[in-house]
Amino acid sequence: MSILIRGGTVVNHDYSRRADVLIEDGKIVAVGDKLSGVETIDAGGCYVMPGGIDPHTHMELMFMGQVSADDFEWGTKAALSGGTTMIVDFCIPAPGESMLKAYQAWRHKAEKAAADYSFHMAVTSWSPQVHDEMEAVVKTYGINTFKHFMAYKGALMVNDDELYNSFRRCAQLGALPLVHAENGDVVARMQADLLARGVTGPEGHSYSRPPEVEGEAANRAIMIAEMAGCPLYIVHVSCEQTHDAIRRAKQAGQRVWGEPLVQYLVLDDSEYQHKDWDYAAGRVMSPPFRNKKHQDTLWAGLQSGTLSVVATDHCSFTVKQKRMGLKNFTQIPNGTGGLEDRMPVLWTAGVNTGRLTKEEFVAATSANIARILNMYPKKGAVMAGSDADLVIWDPKATKKITAKKQVSRIEYNVFEGFECTGAPKTVISRGKIAWVEGDMRAKAGDGDFVAREPNAPAHVANAIWKGITQPKGVKRVEVTP
Ligand code: URP
Ligand code: ZN
Ligand code: ZN
Repeated sequence: MSILIRGGTVVNHDYSRRADVLIEDGKIVAVGDKLSGVETIDAGGCYVMPGGIDPHTHMELMFMGQVSADDFEWGTKAALSGGTTMIVDFCIPAPGESMLKAYQAWRHKAEKAAADYSFHMAVTSWSPQVHDEMEAVVKTYGINTFKHFMAYKGALMVNDDELYNSFRRCAQLGALPLVHAENGDVVARMQADLLARGVTGPEGHSYSRPPEVEGEAANRAIMIAEMAGCPLYIVHVSCEQTHDAIRRAKQAGQRVWGEPLVQYLVLDDSEYQHKDWDYAAGRVMSPPFRNKKHQDTLWAGLQSGTLSVVATDHCSFTVKQKRMGLKNFTQIPNGTGGLEDRMPVLWTAGVNTGRLTKEEFVAATSANIARILNMYPKKGAVMAGSDADLVIWDPKATKKITAKKQVSRIEYNVFEGFECTGAPKTVISRGKIAWVEGDMRAKAGDGDFVAREPNAPAHVANAIWKGITQPKGVKRVEVTP
């Protein structure tokens, strides 16, 4: 059946124009004037934008002894209610566990997704098996991104040797490495020192992870990527130190992308000083929220294009789960929600304030990541031939965020009380109305896995070691010790 979205303004990352959008069999078949279709949706006064893509989520993840509260069904429903029609979740094998086994487990968990999804694969250790399985992950399983945790010592953290090996392998396979940039050794030392001094509350989380810890790891990962000859994507960029490293790398010609979270753009580190323990612990995530100076640099990066994508790192834990760390902040499961709020909060704090144009909003919420992950223009565009994943956006709609009305399964919301102007009116996923003005129509299982092709392994040519050859005609004098 065909659906016609009539009378709206189509907004892509590169242009906006008044146009109708015709959808058939899950695809956009035409964008133009005076089109006709069987079912008509009136988009007068609204923007018609690509559905949001959140490239950083953790559904039903076993992490720090707890399983994150939103599963693929409720996480994707939360996403749809906020205008996001696709998530990319992290498939995380335990160190030493087969990637292929972990992949099967994630596919199984994701069967109940109500919206489309894809995966990044985490490299949590290094061995000949990991080396070989990475090829199958790329060529057989449709995943072209590998995530590396430089933090979480003793759990998921990898060292520089492992990073370099994996980055080289990514270069060979045309895959893109991702890093969680924090120096896990230093964090562990600082955590121990703080606990020894009697700092046990959630504020200790932020003290133990200063911006330098992140900036050092970001710089290191960028240098290792340069030596390995691969591009790099840095997840959850929270501070000037990391932004500066990305800026310099870009200026030097490296392909490095940075992903701030919407939380970092509007929430600051004073949240960890809140006298209500549950409130402060609910904001514990890594890296932590920063001060105003760091917020400003993230906005500047989005405005100038040195930062590319706004994500959420949605990894929600209930109050009970957070209380595992009542006596020791290092035991508070790290993670917050945000999926259903990302687009309205970014629109309100970004577009309504004049920081971002509506086209830049589309770039940061869908088009840029679709290009980086090699799924554009199937995703991230309102274009004939693209998947019909669309959000009809009412720039005048108002909404006060409250946990009482959220779709996510947890009892609190880090944006509680935030007043949004600009919100989805109707959300269309693969050509079907998934959510309309509070009515969730998408069902568990409606989502599909999105496979992504690798890039050509051209970056290998840039590897520093490739340029090193034995100098000709140099006679070395034998030295006897
Ligand atoms: O605190 C966070 N970010 N939790 C989720 C795991 C991660 O590091 O991305
Ligand atoms: Zn992380
Ligand atoms: Zn994460």
